[in-house]
Amino acid sequence: MRKYLILIGLFFCVIINAQNPLFIPPSLTGTTFNLNIQNGVTQFYPSINTPTYGINGPLLGPTLIVNKGDIVTMNVTNSLTGNGNATTMHWHGMHVPAMDDGGPHQLILQNTTWSPSFEIKNDAATFWYHPHGAGKTDLHVSKGLAGMIIVKDAAEAALTLPRTYGIDDFPIIVQTKSFDVLNQIAISTQYDTVVMVNGTIAPFLNAPAQVVRLRLLNGSSGRTFMFGFSNNMNFQLIANDGGLLDTALTLNRILLSNGERAEILVDLSALLNSSVLLMNYGTEIPLGIMGADSVGNATYQILDYYNNPLNGSDYKVMNIVVGAQTSNPVTTIPTSLVPFTPWSLASATINRNFVLDTLTEGFTMPQPAEGPFGINRKFFAMDSINEVVYLNDIETWTIINSTLVAHPFHVHDVQFYLVDINGAPVPNYEHGKKDVVLVMPGDTVRFITKFEDFADDSVPYMYHCHILHHEDDGMMGSFLVLDTNGTSVREYISNALVSVYPNPSDDIWNVNGKSDTKIVNAVLYNAFGEVVVELPIEQHLNSFSIKINNQNLSKGFYILKIDGTENIVTVKLIKN
Ligand code: C2O
Ligand code: CU
Ligand code: CU
Repeated sequence: MRKYLILIGLFFCVIINAQNPLFIPPSLTGTTFNLNIQNGVTQFYPSINTPTYGINGPLLGPTLIVNKGDIVTMNVTNSLTGNGNATTMHWHGMHVPAMDDGGPHQLILQNTTWSPSFEIKNDAATFWYHPHGAGKTDLHVSKGLAGMIIVKDAAEAALTLPRTYGIDDFPIIVQTKSFDVLNQIAISTQYDTVVMVNGTIAPFLNAPAQVVRLRLLNGSSGRTFMFGFSNNMNFQLIANDGGLLDTALTLNRILLSNGERAEILVDLSALLNSSVLLMNYGTEIPLGIMGADSVGNATYQILDYYNNPLNGSDYKVMNIVVGAQTSNPVTTIPTSLVPFTPWSLASATINRNFVLDTLTEGFTMPQPAEGPFGINRKFFAMDSINEVVYLNDIETWTIINSTLVAHPFHVHDVQFYLVDINGAPVPNYEHGKKDVVLVMPGDTVRFITKFEDFADDSVPYMYHCHILHHEDDGMMGSFLVLDTNGTSVREYISNALVSVYPNPSDDIWNVNGKSDTKIVNAVLYNAFGEVVVELPIEQHLNSFSIKINNQNLSKGFYILKIDGTENIVTVKLIKN
């Protein structure tokens, strides 16, 4: 079977062997970005029309170039046609308020515009934007919705680095896609046999014979790459997900999982009038990672995995054709870049464990290589909150992979630093700020982060596996960042202080308050504003208490409204 498919693959190679100039997405600068999500048609193959989605164009989106400190407005219009085609737009890696983050809770209905406005707080680095709608992320990203974001700042500007977009600084969005027999983009298959960069199949890039910067982004739905060059030359890693490293790191290969970015410098000065290939060295991808020769074990295998000729093989990603230098070429590579200081382990006040595991849903038999996967024995649910963290807390998160496949774990809101992998030190290339970490089967990975700036007591952020069909199938959770310390939510009523403990809770909320006026009544409402129950109040001289048994309530938000004689207070309660 595998040989048969390789033959088909070769047939396609012949058709597309003609190399295509690499598409460089147009760039947009400024502080107001109008992003129109639209239908389009793309000819991946000569004279074959494939329906696609794009932002301001038929496929992919413009590169947004922004400056740290700017306040930007994103006017995101959903012009998609088709039934029920609501979407979302998430700013992957960026530190923005939860309501502006573009997770599943910020649905953009068709023919409407969502306009979040936020300050660029991230350091100079490469980020990206893509839809994050409940259950539709893979479809919308695979159809073409993704774009790059480049953040600039003063520390980066002070270094001698290539930074002229499209001239010596290139967006390299690497994706594989599946096409069905009618050349329609298909999802959730193991047949993502077509490799493309910036939407171009078999691309070539004209680059000058000097130091160039490649901003590698793995925008694939599920495949990890092991990048290197066909002449085996070294390159310098200068930045990973969230910012520049302190020193340029000389590498020969770099493993990049879904959603991860790596900025690399490549010295092409010796290659004038020749060319070199950016390669994927699939034979070197550790087993267990999607893209490796095998995933799972003798008993548990992914159906069809071995029929995809890309798995475990070395192949060309892009041809780099080297021409004349530009007028002001960068010819040396700075060794020291921008220092970073990870938080100390001693400053972390809490550790949370996230176990990646297989879960049964309905009649689906879970399979430790194929899923469905959950996190901490739960699937994602729109109306529930999995974790509550407190503003300005430093935490360690420990990701434990008890499945047979590697999962790229991503968290919104923050950048983190890896602490250790199975208790051992982290490889150099994974130092620095990150927002995705690939967790190998059986591994335990710990990172440290701080939840700064943005608290919201009703809109959560997400954490999830960045293999898009795992995410769509529920391998995702949500967390709130609350701006009170300790374990209760406090709000004032009259001269009283109301506290709820525990909150979130899955058995009881103990509400205690001090009040020198009488409490008239207390009513619990659901998220739709419907009355759930009127609650008995224990009234004391200067205080009151209310006990709410929530065992029979479904997961989600509730609002407790307490009527004092002088004013009313509402407290948000979370059932998990
Ligand atoms: Cu790139 Cu939550 O996503
Ligand atoms: Cu994200
Ligand atoms: Cu996964």
